[in-house]
Amino acid sequence: MNILITGGAGFIGCHTADYFAQNHKVKVIDNLVRKGSEFNLKWLNKNHKIEFAKVDICDSEAILNEVKNFKPDAVIHLAAQVAVTTSVTHPMEDFNINALGTLNLLEAIRLHASNASFVFASTNKVYGNMEDIAFERQGKRYAYIDFHKGADEKRPLDFHSPYGCSKGSADQYVRDYARIYGLKTVVFRMSCIYGTRQFGIEDQGWVAWFTIRAAINKPVTIFGDGAQVRDILWVKDLVRAYKTAIDSIEQVKGEVFNLGGGYENQLSLIELLDLLNEIRGSPVKLIFSDWRPGDQRVFIANTTKAKNLLNWEPSCGPKEGVKKIYDWVKDNIGLFS
Ligand SMILES: NC(=O)c1ccc[n+]([C@@H]2O[C@H](COP(=O)([O-])OP(=O)(O)OC[C@H]3O[C@@H](n4cnc5c(N)ncnc54)[C@H](O)[C@@H]3O)[C@@H](O)[C@H]2O)c1
Repeated sequence: MNILITGGAGFIGCHTADYFAQNHKVKVIDNLVRKGSEFNLKWLNKNHKIEFAKVDICDSEAILNEVKNFKPDAVIHLAAQVAVTTSVTHPMEDFNINALGTLNLLEAIRLHASNASFVFASTNKVYGNMEDIAFERQGKRYAYIDFHKGADEKRPLDFHSPYGCSKGSADQYVRDYARIYGLKTVVFRMSCIYGTRQFGIEDQGWVAWFTIRAAINKPVTIFGDGAQVRDILWVKDLVRAYKTAIDSIEQVKGEVFNLGGGYENQLSLIELLDLLNEIRGSPVKLIFSDWRPGDQRVFIANTTKAKNLLNWEPSCGPKEGVKKIYDWVKDNIGLFS
């Protein structure tokens, strides 16, 4: 197959390209705006023969030409402005990249590759803060009181933050292009994804950010009390879901899936620090600061639909995954100091 990956030099993108390039012809589109993307691209080029185009997803004509010339059988759309904080300071830019950029790509596919499978990386942020769901503090983490299976795909949409609005809008366009134009699209509403090659920053990619800081012996700032909890998903488990969706596209086209670590793979900031302290053999230095506006106390995805329709389940737990990131940072310490 010809597989087109937008944002293919980013964290999730380079793992996706690395996986598919083993058996398919892969083209990566990326404008390399993200710190670390050039490093990831070099790594990809060292290991595989992939095609690359430095193209901005906002450039509708260039995107049209890329799709027309490459003739993809599958498209995995990952290019995005990914930080909620940036979306608040630069809402127009965020909208152009995430919403309009996605529409540019959908149009190109509708016109020139209408038979291609299309996988979209959406976000659990489309469900907002879920204020109707009760939670309480239980030891080192917050927990739902009566919602143990977590959020499924029937949760009402409640876009929150410009990032939530731009990704949510793209999510709905992708879904609707399956209904209106018959495109073979699948939407994955992803929880927190973690893994190597993630150049986490304080505002995005917290598992990688904490792990990098721990590995280079720098303090981390905890906003709030540190008991906020997310279901985290190892990046290679995510890529496996993409592959399964493409393989079974006739059965799952038009579907939306929540994808995260689920109940079994939840982790609070305090629990991540416990893991890091154990790996390091000494405590990470902490700075405490106020809650950030809108910081959700708990989010856990219900991944039953992915389990049933894709026969998919996460395989890597937080303890194993965090150690892998820590070792990767240590092996590439020059990039982080
Ligand atoms: N990492 C997570 O936890 C997570 C969770 C939910 C959803 N997502 C979504 O998954 C996708 C990938 O996220 P990631 O964590 O790999 O982020 P990332 O920042 O590492 O990768 C995004 C890539 O897109 C590229 N890019 C940014 N703007 C672009 C533009 N205008 N044109 C072309 N390329 C552009 C960047 O250079 C980068 O390489 C995003 O769509 C994100 O919204 C990620």
